[in-house]
This record gives sequence, C-alpha cells and structure tokens, in this order.
Amino acid sequence: MKCRKCGHTAVINMREHKLALCEEHFLEWIPERVQRTIHKYQMFGPDDKILVAVSGGKDSLGLWDVLLRLGYQAEGLYIKLGIEEGAYSDESLGYVERFAAEREGAHFQVVDVKATYGMSVPEIARAKHRGRKVCSVCGLIKRHVMNRVAYEGEYACIATGHNLDDEVAVLMQNTLRWQMGYLARQAPVLPAIHPKLARKVKPLVHLYERETAAYALVRGIDYIYDECPYAVGATTLFYKDLLNQLEAHSPGSKLSFYLSFLRARKQGLSFGDQGRPELHDCTRCGQPTTAPDMCAFCRLWEDVER
Ligand code: AMP
Ligand code: FES
Ligand code: ZN
Ligand code: ZN
Repeated sequence: MKCRKCGHTAVINMREHKLALCEEHFLEWIPERVQRTIHKYQMFGPDDKILVAVSGGKDSLGLWDVLLRLGYQAEGLYIKLGIEEGAYSDESLGYVERFAAEREGAHFQVVDVKATYGMSVPEIARAKHRGRKVCSVCGLIKRHVMNRVAYEGEYACIATGHNLDDEVAVLMQNTLRWQMGYLARQAPVLPAIHPKLARKVKPLVHLYERETAAYALVRGIDYIYDECPYAVGATTLFYKDLLNQLEAHSPGSKLSFYLSFLRARKQGLSFGDQGRPELHDCTRCGQPTTAPDMCAFCRLWEDVER
C-alpha cells in the first residue's frame, strides 16, 4: 500500500476515508484534522489557556501532544483516583509523568483524590450506603475536580480525549433507549452554563480510535494499554464491538452515524425543550448545582461520612 500524497510505503490504510498515508504524512494529517474540528465547533482560540484532562491513555496523551504541536497553551490535569488493582493509578500517572518530562512546556498538575478529600474512589464506593458502583462515583468525582481546577486556574475550557468510537458507542446506547436528556446534551462542545462550570470540549471526536492508537504508536507515545479494571465488561465496550462489526462491513458508518446525528439536530431535531436548569450554589462546596442545597459530590461525601 502506497501513501496517497507521496507514494512511499503507507503505515496506515484508513478505509473510512479511502486514504492510505506514510508515517510523515499521517503525522501531518492528524493535527490538521484536529485543528479543523477545533475550528468547526469553535472550541477555543490561540490565546485561550486549555486544561487537558489526561488519564495516561492513548487518546488524552495524543490529544495533549497534538495541542502542543499546534502551539496551543495546553496544560495537563491528572486526577489520581487511587485504583490499586493492578497498580492502575500509579502506572497511569507514570505514563503522564514520562510524557511531560520528554516535552518542553508540558506542565501538569495532579489532584490526588485520597490526599485531598480523605478517601480513594474505590474506598468511597465501598463505604457508600447501598454500595454505589465504582464507575459512577468515579465520574462524579472527576467532573467535580475538573470543574474546580478549571475555575480556580481560570482556564477557558477543559479538553478531554473522547474519540469517535467513544462518542458513537454512547450515541448508540442512548438512541436504543431514546434517552432524550442524554441525547440533547451529547455534543463536541458543552457550553459553560455558569461561570463556575467549565466549558467542555472534545477535539478528537472526528478521529477513529484506530487512528488515535496509530498516532500514539507512530509518535512514540507510551501509554497505559490496559482498561481501568472497573471498566472491564462495561456495556460501552459491548457497543464498541458491535459498531466495529458494522464498520468492517461498511467503512465510514461510525463517522456518518455521528455526523448525521449532529446535522439532524442542527436542522431542528429536538429532544424536548430541556430548558436551562436553575442553578444554586452548593451549601457545602459552592459549586453550582440544580439541587436545592448540596451538590451530588457533597451529598456523596455526607453519605459516606455518616
Ligand atoms: P474515560 O471516561 O476513561 O473513557 O475517559 C474519557 C476522558 O476523560 C479521557 O480521554 C481523559 O481526557 C479524561 N480522563 C479520564 N480519566 C482521567 C483521570 N484520571 N485524570 C484526568 N482525566 C481523565
Ligand atoms: Fe473511573 Fe475506572 S476510570 S472507575
Ligand atoms: Zn507520504
Ligand atoms: Zn458541593
């Protein structure tokens, strides 16, 4: 297989785009595609300070690498969840540290959940009455920490490494159940609905997981290969498998499913008027919440401490 641009040996054949590229041209193509996505959805500009949420995985480290290559002011945030199974948290932090050490200007901060709040994510999940699932506690904690750090550090937005496969798996899950509220909120950009709630952007939404993995490989980015031990068997992974079968049969179908969903919404497809939720300051931490007194994060802690 030859590179479409120069005729040298291709390192990747992207059937979804009918495009094969050599190493050099693939390493050019990825940042160009990400830049087009940033521009298309007006995610941020060259003067904005961006907080990149990095997990140590290929997507978020690849995203950070691309943003730095494009000249953005992109600083990292690693949230140490305290997952000890398979030394998952220590190992993933190690990848972030090595990535930053190898690049000039790659600064990042770590928020250690246990050191900051007193318990790790699995400990909270175990302590919580009615035994809440680790992943849902984890999501809640990550959202809270990201918002707090972005607000305190005056970042223009938080960028996460969600790729096309992630978004399409969630879209399919939500569509199968016609989850109106979730469908209404699924987007490449979530605007800040309150000064204390950061704008969230996903600059990799047009990249297939296979493309982000190839990018990390070709760029020599070392990343944590294993899934989080609590995510193993998650339904999203099942949908990803299903969608891969569809994609193998009909290349490009994931991208067109996602883009046609966004287009339909732009053309007026509506999931009911959700309206703007009324927000109050949480009585315990001060972050905005739709609940009348405490936010979900603080209610979780109150429950655990009781
Ligand atoms: P996941 O929910 O694990 O698929 O992760 C989605 C995105 O959330 C990643 O691409 C990262 O941008 C961000 N993220 C996940 N885990 C962490 C973490 N421990 N610290 C900071 N950001 C994270
Ligand atoms: Fe949050 Fe696995 S990363 S539970
Ligand atoms: Zn080439
Ligand atoms: Zn609170």
